[in-house]
Amino acid sequence: MDFKIQWFPGHMTKAKRMMEQQIKLVDVVVEMLDARVPRSSTNPMLIQLLGQKPKIIALNKVDMADPAKTEAWKTTFKNNGLPVCSVDCNTGKGVKQLVSEVQKAAQPVLDKWLKRGVKNRSIRVMIVGIPNVGKSTLINRLVGKNKVMAADKPGVTRGQQWVTIAKGLELLDTPGVLWPKFDDSQIGLNLALTGAIKEEVYDREQATELLTEKLIADYPDLLKEKYAIDFEPGASVREVFEKIAVSRGCLKGGGQLDIDKVIQLVLRDFRSGKIGRVTLDEPDK
Ligand code: G4P
Repeated sequence: MDFKIQWFPGHMTKAKRMMEQQIKLVDVVVEMLDARVPRSSTNPMLIQLLGQKPKIIALNKVDMADPAKTEAWKTTFKNNGLPVCSVDCNTGKGVKQLVSEVQKAAQPVLDKWLKRGVKNRSIRVMIVGIPNVGKSTLINRLVGKNKVMAADKPGVTRGQQWVTIAKGLELLDTPGVLWPKFDDSQIGLNLALTGAIKEEVYDREQATELLTEKLIADYPDLLKEKYAIDFEPGASVREVFEKIAVSRGCLKGGGQLDIDKVIQLVLRDFRSGKIGRVTLDEPDK
């Protein structure tokens, strides 16, 4: 597969510098991943930036991901010693559990402080992740009606504030933005499809064709049901597009099938979860 994304290393350098500064301020980090693409939406460089700081994985948008694969991914993370929670930040499902995981992960930090005679210090946490993964939605949920604490504390960039979200737990109200990684063409494709990458920098038609190829192979029933079509295993993308065009009445002036319209439709339906619950990254065996 040769799926290309035009991107600019300058953005990465700036994001990395920001992240380095922000991580210094916190005791625990929540890395938010997209449950549809847990492998593609992580950024391995975070591990280096974190050092010894505890990290928790929040698998977001589980409402749009394949439930069996989400469970398998959770097992994979746990097997790698990483605490993990699945959340749906649109509805708030799983968010309480996430807060208690953060408190659990912070315990060793609290114990260390206690040994040094420091009591009653709040744990500080921040949410990090690539663009569009749902960081702001989670922050808004956590902050909710909680009072914003006394403004700028030392070391906090102007405009950022700490909000108490549970007893002894303060959240930085600005997310850490990780940059997507593009070194692998499959990862780039998955990030494009799930909305982490702006549409201007890749070929939408090619992305949708590759998506449809995957759906034909792994989720044929979802396609058949959504568009009221039928096809044999191994059907070509072109054939499926044509069937969708007929079924949905996507026609051009002269009665020709409007495949461009089908492409737009499939991509939009996938992005909004209307095709069904799909996970593009296979969990480790
Ligand atoms: P960010 O700060 O990480 O960049 O992401 P943000 O919170 O802005 O969320 C990006 C989009 O993802 C938003 O949709 C938001 O509603 C959606 N979202 C967040 N959490 C969930 C979830 O658990 N499930 C689902 N289904 N969607 C979620 P949006 O405002 O419509 O933006 P867009 O989709 O038009 O980009």
